[in-house]
Amino acid sequence: MIVAGNWKMNKNATETTELIGAISNGMGDTSTKVMVAPPFVNLAAAADSAKNTNIIVAAQNMHFAESGAFTGEVSASMLLHLGIDHVILGHSERRALFGEWDALLAKKADTALDKNMTVIFCFGEELHDRKNDIHFDVVKNQLSEGLFHLEANNWQNIILAYEPVWAIGTGETASPEQAQEMHAFIRKTLIERYDPDLADGVSILYGGSVKPGNARDIFSKPDVDGGLIGGASLNADDFLAIVQSA
Ligand code: PGA
Repeated sequence: MIVAGNWKMNKNATETTELIGAISNGMGDTSTKVMVAPPFVNLAAAADSAKNTNIIVAAQNMHFAESGAFTGEVSASMLLHLGIDHVILGHSERRALFGEWDALLAKKADTALDKNMTVIFCFGEELHDRKNDIHFDVVKNQLSEGLFHLEANNWQNIILAYEPVWAIGTGETASPEQAQEMHAFIRKTLIERYDPDLADGVSILYGGSVKPGNARDIFSKPDVDGGLIGGASLNADDFLAIVQSA
């Protein structure tokens, strides 16, 4: 199981160090893989605080180019220099608020994988897609445009995060059954494009209003391999309760 905290644009460097300290103190020796993704400016502090702990520090985004005239952007090499080799790509906020699209995400994934980084690839339908009953098509399309150009061996470094947009930050979670239904569909889609062994080996996280009170039910579903947590990852007790539910 994997539980990853997406801190979005929250916490300063001091708070980052404190929160990582509190998580690492409370974690015990869980077998769950625990990740946190602070904003770029706090990654150095986070990497430092997470040293000698089992917490993996991830970035929330990166550019596909090695370097150059890309104001405000950060490259894979810069992350690796800090010891950060996990990156979230394609979060719905990046797609919706910052105009990121499938072909761009495919390029970012290529760069990350070339650099031996692990990608947490996010995707998921919007509310109107579900209402129009096209949520499976939307998800299949996001996967195929973003990732299905990859060779099978690349998938060792891919973690999927299904995040229905209507459930992100809204307090409205997909039911455990809705999550399971989509995760099973994702696995079936992976079998069609690749093979059953690959599909079986890929971790598929659920994200969208996961809280201490609903985590256990969601994580108990057979095709749910953990969660990507936003709001509830900003509080050590809540995040630890979710980790313990995994
Ligand atoms: P949320 O965010 O847990 O606050 O809904 C999840 C995410 O955006 O990854």
